[in-house]
Amino acid sequence: MDDSSLVWDDGALVTIDQRGLPHEVRELRLGTVDEIIEAIKTLAIRGAPAIGIAGAFGVVIATAAHTVDGVVDEARVRAEADRIAAARPTAVNLAWAVERVRTRIPAGADAVLAETLDMLAEDGRVNRAAATHAADLVQRLCADRPLRVLTHCNTGRLATSAFGTAIGTLRVLAERGAIENVLVDETRPLLQGARLTAWELAEAGIPHRLTIDSAAAWAMATGQVDCVLVGADRVTANGDVANKIGTYAVALAAHRHGIPFIVVAPESTRDPNTATGRDIVVEERAAAEVTGFGGVATAPADTEVFNPAFDVTPGELVTAVVTENGVVHGTNSAATQPVSAARAEL
Ligand code: MRU
Repeated sequence: MDDSSLVWDDGALVTIDQRGLPHEVRELRLGTVDEIIEAIKTLAIRGAPAIGIAGAFGVVIATAAHTVDGVVDEARVRAEADRIAAARPTAVNLAWAVERVRTRIPAGADAVLAETLDMLAEDGRVNRAAATHAADLVQRLCADRPLRVLTHCNTGRLATSAFGTAIGTLRVLAERGAIENVLVDETRPLLQGARLTAWELAEAGIPHRLTIDSAAAWAMATGQVDCVLVGADRVTANGDVANKIGTYAVALAAHRHGIPFIVVAPESTRDPNTATGRDIVVEERAAAEVTGFGGVATAPADTEVFNPAFDVTPGELVTAVVTENGVVHGTNSAATQPVSAARAEL
């Protein structure tokens, strides 16, 4: 695999199977719409921008499969596109990307592919731009010394196609010598932080420590966090932010301790058609993700489960949402209070 986590190769999408990491780096080759949908649903491919691009490749495959003698069966391809867009409901990037390539269906599979490859090439550039704006903001808001940053879930090249958003920001800060250490939430129940973020930060040579999600507030209370950086799955018109379950709790704690809470995402994660976070469909996932660990049951058989994959952080708790266009929401609440003053309250 090259630097991109998503590669188009002779009619198939080739990627790393994120379910195997960090122990097994295995390639996944997806040549049918069903395989793409299955990979998205089972989190073999995950992260808002990554599932968007994978979904667009799914439309390429559908268009090629339903073209006979150069004539595209548009109705069938559109039905396949709808199925792909519905694979996961919360991250708007999936619907956005499928919609973007849908307009090219009448022009045939090569046209859909060209649009998808444009999107893939843009992703790394967009992430780098957003990350650079976010790093500038972090350095403006925080102390002028190497920083202790907390992050939740995984927002790196696996979750995008290249560079990453919140992890991209950590890369930029590290390049500037501005990272002392990153505190990585393990991110229950599927451990995207432990399995993927720790793996990517190690690969990038960025110093980090892994912690359990429930230690985040205590780390802040004991003065071990200068700033929080996370990604997003959807940012609504009013600035509410859907992201991996647990993000809201991190935001509440950051607000309590006057610590900047910064969201880094591409413009494609913004959803101006959804007014507030209350209108977002939050995906609920299987009970088995909660009742067991590493294949071993950890709860009585048949225990009922509440397993939302995401939560919504109200915009008032978000210091800033930063995209490739700069700060698009914020800065209020925590950012207006110097970190040192908040610490003195403890
Ligand atoms: O369920 P996942 O692993 O797809 O959830 C991913 C997240 O919540 C990420 O933080 C978000 O998509 C941002 S990725 C740049």
